[in-house]
Amino acid sequence: MAIGGTFDPFHRGHRALIDAAFSLGDEVVIGVSSDELARRMGKAPDRTFGERACELLEYLESKYRDRVYSLHKLDDPFGPLASDPSIEALVVSPETEGRGRAANEVRRSRGLREVDIIRMDFVLAEDGEPISSTRIRRGEIDKEGRILEGAERGMGLGVDSLHPLERRVLAALRGSGGPLDVDGIAAASGLSPDQVRRAVEWLRSKGMVRVEWEVRRVAVPGPGARRILEEGLPEDRLLRELESSGGELGIPELAGRLRMDAQELSASLGRLSRGGYVSISRGRVRALRGGPYSQLSLDLLRRLVDAGELPLDGLSPSEASALDELSRRPGVIEVREVRRARVSLAEGAPALQPAAGSAEEVTQLTPEDISTGRWRSLRLSRLDVVSPVPEMHPGRRHVIAEYVRRVREIFASMGFQEVSGGLLQISFWNFDALYTPQDHPARELQDTFYMDVEPTEEPPADVESAVAATHENGWRTGSTGWGYEWDPREARRVVLRTHTTVLSVRALHATRDLPVVKLFSVGEVFRNEKVDSRHLVEFHQIEGIVKSPDANLRRLMGYISEFYSRLGFRDVKFWPTYFPYTEPSLQVMVRVGGSWLEMGGMGIFRPEVTLPLGVEEPVLAWGLGLERLIMVDMGIEDARELYANRLSWLRRVPACRSWTWT
Ligand code: PHE
Repeated sequence: MAIGGTFDPFHRGHRALIDAAFSLGDEVVIGVSSDELARRMGKAPDRTFGERACELLEYLESKYRDRVYSLHKLDDPFGPLASDPSIEALVVSPETEGRGRAANEVRRSRGLREVDIIRMDFVLAEDGEPISSTRIRRGEIDKEGRILEGAERGMGLGVDSLHPLERRVLAALRGSGGPLDVDGIAAASGLSPDQVRRAVEWLRSKGMVRVEWEVRRVAVPGPGARRILEEGLPEDRLLRELESSGGELGIPELAGRLRMDAQELSASLGRLSRGGYVSISRGRVRALRGGPYSQLSLDLLRRLVDAGELPLDGLSPSEASALDELSRRPGVIEVREVRRARVSLAEGAPALQPAAGSAEEVTQLTPEDISTGRWRSLRLSRLDVVSPVPEMHPGRRHVIAEYVRRVREIFASMGFQEVSGGLLQISFWNFDALYTPQDHPARELQDTFYMDVEPTEEPPADVESAVAATHENGWRTGSTGWGYEWDPREARRVVLRTHTTVLSVRALHATRDLPVVKLFSVGEVFRNEKVDSRHLVEFHQIEGIVKSPDANLRRLMGYISEFYSRLGFRDVKFWPTYFPYTEPSLQVMVRVGGSWLEMGGMGIFRPEVTLPLGVEEPVLAWGLGLERLIMVDMGIEDARELYANRLSWLRRVPACRSWTWT
């Protein structure tokens, strides 16, 4: 199924065509006119190909991500339609039907099967007339086909709502009587080109000016141009050399005398022999007639160097072919495309005398304006708050990064310091030091990613023997231990960390001599699970510990309640649960609307964890889900959305939230 157009602007009628194509066919081929083609067809698009294609893609991505489609830049009116045998049908509007039939003629002539032409009716605007790009540009209707009037047309408030820069641009355009480029407007208005560009952009979005892009191809001299002007064309140098040596020379001698590289020499010999200037046989070159090889090329180069650039469309056919030949010589000339905006008044732009509004007009009042009474003589610009403006998508942080930043801010403001660490860890820190027995189900391959690499480090010897004894018989922790034979090799297996609690134990060991420690971390963890809407293989945890002689469960609940309340979750409750490394253990739940959602685990580290690390004080610990938090906060149903990087979704994530659930 195929469909094509310029899509400028992309309106409801276009969407209907695309929807029809997707509902009628399995695969959809979409052709978008290039800027060049659109101009040739008299369209003068307001936006570049890139901008148009982007908007289209965004729609396709938001609605047809799971479907097969391809987008093609059309440099001719038919594109793949004229050559792709797999296209079976074309969806057209009454406007483009003719093009479809023409495409079929081309296909017939190439022996391709004709495509079925499926004609859709025009989609109508509110007033019963078709939605068309022209009507939208004129400001009669918006892209949805709604009738615009008065202020909505942007021209409603007329002169009063215009910014001073806009007024000056309009006045310059009215004074010129024809289209102007940016420099022309700048000269006529006394504004800087930058101010002109800004004002033109505003006026364009209000439909008061039209912008057409003129693309000119110009030749500019390259580094080799000057050399040719000084020394002559290599062909002429070659002919002169031949002449002064009696009309004949061997190729190696020629090369030596001319000091030309092999490539240039063979290119020049090729041109000369094709042009009948020389004959070459058995490695010897003989002159057949004299130069100059091309006076026209030299004249052209001279003009080019003098003028700095030559527009290609002003050249005669013989000049054009000489230029073409020159452009094939490396470094002699370069052909560039120069884009120039041609701005003209749209019909209906407000009549504005160049002198309009002699009182000084301001957009903002300063305290001095008020205290000095100057405001009495100032004219305040009226702001048109309903005029349609283009949607803008400035760069921004990814949602996850944004939340990580927020979490950091909260813990930092609660007096915590951040720790980080490697994604690869030895099982010793990830499991054993956390009193997780070596046959614990969480260690099974289906939960943990084991890495086939050498151990990344050795456990500290004293901690290792204490951990081994604790697992086997409880060591001096008062526990009976797990009662199995602890295997030091198992503890050296490398894993992708399964929780950030690994960072907490490591930090506890590193800070064992400090009496009070408050640390947190935010980082990725990995679990070998089947991915679905609620489970990811890679996700983030918010981890923390408090070591202090007076730490207790009540404080732990206090820290966690405080953390969630700073994020806007006021109702938090705790429920008993089990972890091998904490006692007591709790899970924390927050209320979102009418339901309670489990957000993470916590507890007080068992002596089996702390004593082998050399820590005597009680340690509070927690590990909370980050993605869960973002999902409930943003009302996302599917965790995968967070990592799909769909631009259309990312752009719509609100930048500010009210942080209230009550
Ligand atoms: N590590 C536990 C998890 O991944 C959370 C936790 C951290 C529990 C610290 C208790 C103490 O779910």
